Amino acid sequence: MKKWTKVVAAVVAGTMLLALAGCGGAKDSKPAAEKKADKKIVIGFSQVGAESEWRTANTESIKAAAKEAGIELKFSDGQQKQENQVKAIRSFIQQKVDVIAFSPVVETGWDTVLQEAKDAHIPVILTDRAIKLGKGNPEDYYVTFLGSDFIVEGQNAAKWLLEFTKKTDPVNIVELQGTVGSAPAIDRKKGFEEVMKDHPNYKIIKSQTGDFTRAKGKEVMESFLKSAKAEGQKIDVLYAHNDDMAIGAIQAIEEAGLKPGKDIIIVSVDGVKGAFEAMIAGKLNCTVECSPLLGPQLMDAVKNILAGKTLEKRILTKEGVFPADVAAKELPNRKY
Ligand code: AHR
Repeated sequence: MKKWTKVVAAVVAGTMLLALAGCGGAKDSKPAAEKKADKKIVIGFSQVGAESEWRTANTESIKAAAKEAGIELKFSDGQQKQENQVKAIRSFIQQKVDVIAFSPVVETGWDTVLQEAKDAHIPVILTDRAIKLGKGNPEDYYVTFLGSDFIVEGQNAAKWLLEFTKKTDPVNIVELQGTVGSAPAIDRKKGFEEVMKDHPNYKIIKSQTGDFTRAKGKEVMESFLKSAKAEGQKIDVLYAHNDDMAIGAIQAIEEAGLKPGKDIIIVSVDGVKGAFEAMIAGKLNCTVECSPLLGPQLMDAVKNILAGKTLEKRILTKEGVFPADVAAKELPNRKY
């Protein structure tokens, strides 16, 4: 082949290649939604840990819903440490998942990693717990936030207590708080105190974290009982930010020779089966519901985001209040 013929052949081949590439380009210019529909959706989920019955039910709900929706779930257990969650989110960014979802163990300290997710154009969904940023509006860093209103839960616990006890003389309350710096610990305290401020005879005499676990709930209740005894104070009420801590505290109260649910009125939050069993046994007086069954809503949100739909910034969970007298009837209906 002469030199110029070779040049023409090369130009023709190049043009054909460009044309083919052009076809590929046209394919690439499909809307993101259609592109996503072609392949399996992958989400990265960073969970707080496995600190409570609630958390276990939440994890199961998310795993089951992902399976049901045909979504690939990359799941990471943060073991209640923020650094583990940050690492997990960074690895999801590296793996270029379609959506990142996480339940933040504490409210603050997410600024950098959320900026990294934003820079990588990966949508983020918050589940269960809220965040606060050092600077800027947190809402700019996530598409939607699914979960409960913890302030309302705290208010509901206080309202139930007032209605149940109807006291005008002093009522001494001890409070088992959730994980320090976490949204449910901050908001459940706030909601409870907001209602109680109009009832100054109801006083929180001791308040400490039990980190949302049974073991810590028991340990802290033991120390509350000991110090109250030493100070000559009577504990009338226990307000626990979750059922697991209340269940741990029930053990401590029994070991101290007192009757939980009678000598000390107990109200807690979550509505797990263990709490219903404790109510049926007469050891717990009320649980304020906080639903962990967020899996189906999360998968719907993921699909909607990838289909280009606009989501509500806040998707609230519906919940009730269950006093001991309805426990036996309700237990068979409980899903967690
Ligand atoms: O964020 C929800 C809270 O976290 C639940 O009330 C508690 O049980 C869990 O550990």
